[in-house]
Amino acid sequence: MAPTVLQTLAIGFAALVSVVSSNALSNAYVSHEGEPAGFFKNVSGVSIYHSYHNGTPGHKAVLHVTDIYGVPLLENKLLADSIARAGYTVIVPDLFAGDAVPVEDREGPALNLTEWRTRHPPADIERILSLTVDYIHNDLNISRIGGAGYCFGGKYVPRFLAEGKGIDVGFIAHPSGLEAAEIQGINGPISIAGELNTIHGLMSKDVDQIIAGELDNAFNVTARYNAEAILTSKNATYETNFYSGAPHGFAVRPNITVARQKYAKEASYFQALLWFAAWL
Ligand SMILES: *[C@@H]1O[C@H](CO)[C@@H](O)[C@H](O)[C@H]1NC(C)=O
Ligand SMILES: *[C@@H]1O[C@H](CO)[C@@H](O)[C@H](O)[C@H]1NC(C)=O
Ligand SMILES: *[C@@H]1O[C@H](CO)[C@@H](O)[C@H](O)[C@H]1NC(C)=O
Ligand SMILES: *[C@@H]1O[C@H](CO)[C@@H](O)[C@H](O)[C@H]1NC(C)=O
Ligand SMILES: *[C@@H]1O[C@H](CO)[C@@H](O)[C@H](O)[C@H]1NC(C)=O
Ligand SMILES: *[C@@H]1O[C@H](CO)[C@@H](O)[C@H](O)[C@H]1NC(C)=O
Repeated sequence: MAPTVLQTLAIGFAALVSVVSSNALSNAYVSHEGEPAGFFKNVSGVSIYHSYHNGTPGHKAVLHVTDIYGVPLLENKLLADSIARAGYTVIVPDLFAGDAVPVEDREGPALNLTEWRTRHPPADIERILSLTVDYIHNDLNISRIGGAGYCFGGKYVPRFLAEGKGIDVGFIAHPSGLEAAEIQGINGPISIAGELNTIHGLMSKDVDQIIAGELDNAFNVTARYNAEAILTSKNATYETNFYSGAPHGFAVRPNITVARQKYAKEASYFQALLWFAAWL
């Protein structure tokens, strides 16, 4: 006899629960406030935040590649702690050598973001991430690395998901400056969370043209469409989830008094955990 709809749903749910419970996801939740649980260690001149599950390094690491606010931002450390709670060793390098953008200066006249970006070129970020990957492999003795990249960091997780770069499975939220070539180079499962705040018209269906060009700076519907076209053409293991009413930066620092923003942060956190549970 064919299974009923309810039986089919129950089987699907049981499969999901087995993924969830096998990775202690049932104890996972996002900390929105409180004291960071981790510690900093200076590794070859780079200050690195460590958050351990149960106080010891585990078998799987998550390399958290931050937004422009970096490790000084409380929400970044709490997000790392929240992911660690699900059983991972979470490692967050200071990408900016003490020069992260202070949240309060973001809109202020004192900060020239264009000029700030020239102080932190891709070559510097790549050097710090390579050093961190080596540290995870050789000092922490962890061979499997998931990458979680937010905004600025969303460009670098795909770069390090390329063959031989060290990240095995990726999750990115509202990536900025992501280029088609970086998506093209991805060589591992990738999960993408984005904001749904742009209404779009028809998009080009010419994948070759998309692959040749640069993707949009903000991860809007055009960028989403382009990324999906490239990943589908590569037969990549991927997913994209977009959240309504979620502003840029929602996975890290939404206004949690607004229901849709709080939901978007928490759902994208579980999106990352489910992805790592399945593929890392
Ligand atoms: C890390 O250590 C190096 C060498 O001891 C030192 O020069 C540097 O200032 C330290 N950096 C941080 C971020 O503590
Ligand atoms: C910001 O910095 C860029 C690059 O240094 C410069 O071209 C631009 O004029 C600066 N903008 C302002 C408003 O100072
Ligand atoms: C990693 O392995 C090396 C060599 O076996 C060992 O000396 C070191 O203590 C290990 N580090 C950790 C954090 O377990
Ligand atoms: C997406 O953003 C880019 C700029 O980054 C813009 O040129 C493009 O028109 C946007 N697409 C849509 C559908 O809004
Ligand atoms: C796509 O990838 C899956 C999973 O790796 C594989 O089983 C399948 O054969 C691939 N399909 C094509 C057309 O390459
Ligand atoms: C967060 O949202 C609430 C409710 O809309 C609003 O009153 C408050 O000003 C917002 N906080 C920030 C920092 O934008």
